Formats: sequence, structure tokens, C-alpha cells
Amino acid sequence: MSNAEKIKELIEKRNLAKLGGGEKRIDAQHAKGKFTARERIEMLLDEGSFEEYDMFVTHHSTDFGLDKQKFLSDGVVTGHGTIDGRVVYVFFQDFTVFGGSLSKAYANKICKIMDQAMKVGAPIIGINDSGGARIQEGVKSLAGYADIFQRNILASGVIPQISAIFGPCAGGAVYSPALTDFIMMTDKTSYMFVTGPKVSKTVTGEDISEEQLGGATVHASKSGVTHFVAENEEEGILLLRKLLSYLPQNNLEEPPITPCSDPIDRLDDSLNEIIPESANIPYNIKDVIYTIADDGEFLEVHRQYARNIVIGFAKFNGMSVGIVANQPNYLAGVLDIEASRKAARFVRFCDSFNIPIITLVDVPGFLPGSAQEYGGIILHGAKLLFAYGEATVPKITIILRKAYGGAYDVMSSKHLRGDLNYAWPSAEIAVMGPKGAIEVLHFKELKAIADTAEREKFVAEKEKEYRDKFANPYEAAQHGYIDDVIEPRNTRFRIIRALTTLATKKDVNPPKKHSNIPL
Ligand code: HXC
Repeated sequence: MSNAEKIKELIEKRNLAKLGGGEKRIDAQHAKGKFTARERIEMLLDEGSFEEYDMFVTHHSTDFGLDKQKFLSDGVVTGHGTIDGRVVYVFFQDFTVFGGSLSKAYANKICKIMDQAMKVGAPIIGINDSGGARIQEGVKSLAGYADIFQRNILASGVIPQISAIFGPCAGGAVYSPALTDFIMMTDKTSYMFVTGPKVSKTVTGEDISEEQLGGATVHASKSGVTHFVAENEEEGILLLRKLLSYLPQNNLEEPPITPCSDPIDRLDDSLNEIIPESANIPYNIKDVIYTIADDGEFLEVHRQYARNIVIGFAKFNGMSVGIVANQPNYLAGVLDIEASRKAARFVRFCDSFNIPIITLVDVPGFLPGSAQEYGGIILHGAKLLFAYGEATVPKITIILRKAYGGAYDVMSSKHLRGDLNYAWPSAEIAVMGPKGAIEVLHFKELKAIADTAEREKFVAEKEKEYRDKFANPYEAAQHGYIDDVIEPRNTRFRIIRALTTLATKKDVNPPKKHSNIPL
């Protein structure tokens, strides 16, 4: 073969690999409203930045006639590229080849780039679109999955790992995304479940569709498995790029600082009015977040799940932060099982990757009742407490209104190594709300008053007495539990100054193998 022929052969092989499972299967993929793996690469990465690995890999199976069915790349496209100029490792499952199902050779390709991402210290993004384990390969495929799981586990807290689900993700295949930091699903074209509708029907008799069992909507709102839902793949890919813009490359680096044109001392008078006169009237905490963050931008995580707590990323003078905020607009912002779990995992993510945490507090306490107690609110609430107490990143807390009971302690209080704890003048810091407190403190007196009007008068008097004592931030400030009481309109500036000051903060936990967070 001449040199020219050799080059021609290389080009032909490359072109063949780029065709994946062939035109017919590519058309079928498009007909489902989905892009192919290679089209997704073009959309996700900076133009011309993709370097592909292992294009010439094929599977090594001979059973079930597989020796006659070989496709270059074997159903997954792997490599690295850049997003906004920063290196990222990627794998794209290719549904046009054996339904994107995973062979041992395919798993080895993913493991290779995971290993390199760890050495380089760069994030990894996996685009999932697969029928799961390659049935013809049996245990070799299962072994391949486990090899990936082990790497997901070791990479956890070292490099950001992000999973996008753009098609099926079933069986054990769900556990690699589940081990990563963030999951995103496309609406109506993706689903995730451990066992699908057919098995569910056989075992439990339940008749349920793929969408109802594991579509994006249920995982966003009911299970909390997915952090983001995208209308379509284009939107999903923009979201992935946006998410990365808040994150450092690895746990030894700081998050990127972006240029900011939003004035740091921008005062917003609307904040002075945002807290309603009555403690029982809700307001939308997201209005506060949009008002104080750079350019009103907030990337909300888990938007549809446990809406009584809001979490997500924002920037302050170009610095990335994680925001955790009680939402008075939904269940009065109470802490329950789901809210505690949601916020705890987010706090731990931020702490792993050197992202300061801003906590906005307006919480009436933990949700009472047998459903919560039987469901283990003790342990789930402890997760959030643990996460905050363990976190060593800068922690800035602002109590806007209520901070009652154990929830006061939990929400990044001074006592959990909060670095700067501010309160608005509207803050109320107490063991419980006035109603509950009066019932406990004056139980016998209340029982002895038969006349309703007289009882109401007595309650009103006692509530006033209680409010005068605790419905303000000064009792807590007197003890140094609040560092300063700030004017609400000044909040953005105070956060930026705190973040700037705390940028060099160093704090460590005692040496240990690992902690034992209540799971
Ligand atoms: C080998 C597979 C495959 C698989 C699909 N294909 N899944 N090949 N192993 N797991 C092939 C099909 O034979 C077909 O090949 C092509 O991919 C497209 O599949 P279709 O069925 O035509 O596509 P569609 O109608 O869109 O249905 C997609 C699907 C379905 C819902 C994913 O294919 C399916 O149910 N597959 C099996 C899913 C499954 O049970 N996987 C194992 C889960 S257990 P041709 O040649 O016609 O294009 C598991 C364990 C992991 O994953 C454990 C880890 C711990």
C-alpha cells in the first residue's frame, strides 16, 4: 500500500466510524426528535476543540453472531474538548450502534477518559442514550458497568461529574449517573428506571408507562433523581455549559471569576419593603435572590423538587456561590425530609468544590407529624445539619425573617462555624413561633379561662410580650450569634464584601478516613 492509499484508508475508516450504526439508524434517531452522538459533540464543545479517542475500537465478542456485526467506536464516542476554553472530558453514548448498549470494550473507552480526567483534573460529562448492558456480552458488560461505577466513586469530590440523559437509561445503567454530581434529563425523550414497565407489570401488577415511571417530570418533581429538566437537547446542552461556568475544574482549584459589570454597591430599595408586615404572609424568596445576584442571574437546581427550599448557583461580583434559601411561598418554607436531603447534598457539593455558601433564612421550623417522624426526619434533618457543620468553605448567612427552633441552628448558624451571620431588622429568632410558645408556657392558665373572648385577649397579650422579646434580631445579636443587623437594600454589597474578605479563609476538619454522615 502506498502512503497515499494508507491515508485514504484512514480517511475512509474515519468516515465509517462517523456513520455510527448507519444512515437508517441515524434517521430513526432523528425521527424520535433526538440528535446523534456526533451532532451532540458539535453542539456541546467549543468549535474544533474535540479530540476523539479510540475511534477504531470494536467489541471482541463472537457469540450470537456478533463477530459479523462490528461498528467502529462500538457505540460510544469519547474524548476531550473545551467549553468556554476550559478542558472537559466527555463521552457520548451512540444509540445507533446496538442501541447504545454497553460492551466491555465500550466500558474500557469510558474508563480510559475517566482516568485521564482525574489525572488532568478536569470535569467529565456523560451523555446517556442507551439500552443498558449489551445483552450478548453477559457478565463482561456487567463488569464494564462496575468498572465505571468504581471510577465514579473515586472521582466524587475530586472532579465535577455531570450526566445528561438524552434517551433511555435503564437497569443498572442508572447507577453511574446516580453517582455523579448532577443529572439533567430532556423532557419526553428520556427516561430512567431500575426496572422498566414490563418487569413492573409482571412483578407488581402495576400498569404504568415509561414516561410515568421514569420520565423527566417524575424524576424532577417526585423522586428528585434529576436536578434539571430541559425542553429539548439544545436547551439541555446550553444548560450544561452554563452549569460548568460556576464550577472549578477540580477540588484543588477555585471556581472561575468572571468579569462583572453589575455595580457591587447597587442598593435596591425594594428589599426594604419585601418582608410583609404580618409574619404569616408569604413572599417569594427568589425575588430576593434575583435582586441581589449579579445581573439577576440564578441557575436553580432541583427547581421542581422540595420547593420549600431553593438551591442553586449565582455570582457576586463575578464570584461563584451556592445559594440555599428557605421559600416562604411554599409550605411556609418549612424544613421537611425532602428539603433537608436536597439542601444537604447541595451544601456538600459546594464544600467539595470550594464554592462559598450563602444561606437565606426564613424558616418556621421542622414539619411536624407522624409522616415526617416515621419517614425519618430525625436522620434526614441531621444530614443538613451535618453538611453545614462539616463545610469549611466561606459560609455567609442572612436571617430575613423567621429562624425558629432547631431550624435556626441547622441553617448555617454561627454555632455551625458560620463565618458572617447577618440579620435583617425583620428577623425573629426564637425557640418556636409565638402561638406554640404561648400554648406551652401558659397551658394551665389557658385551660382555666372558660370565656373565649377573655382567652383570646390573654393570648394576644402574651403573644405581644413574646414578640417584643424575640421578634427581633437584637437578642441574638446581644450574644454575638449575629455579627451585624443590616439594612436589606444593602445585602448585595455586604455579601460581596464578605466573600472578598473570606476568599483566603482556611478551616480544616480533624484528620479522619471519612465522616459518617447519617445516611
Ligand atoms: C444489545 C440492544 C440492547 C441491549 C437495544 N439493542 N438494547 N442490543 N443489548 N441491551 C439494540 C436492538 O436490538 C436494536 O438493534 C437497536 O438496539 C435499537 O433497539 P430498538 O429496540 O429497536 O429501539 P427502541 O424501540 O427505541 O427501544 C429502545 C429500548 C429497547 C427501550 C432501549 O431496545 C430495550 O428495551 N432494550 C433492552 C433494555 C434492557 O432491558 N437492557 C438491559 C437492562 S439491565 P438493531 O440492530 O435492530 O438496530 C442492565 C444491567 C446493567 O442494563 C447492570 C449494571 C450493574
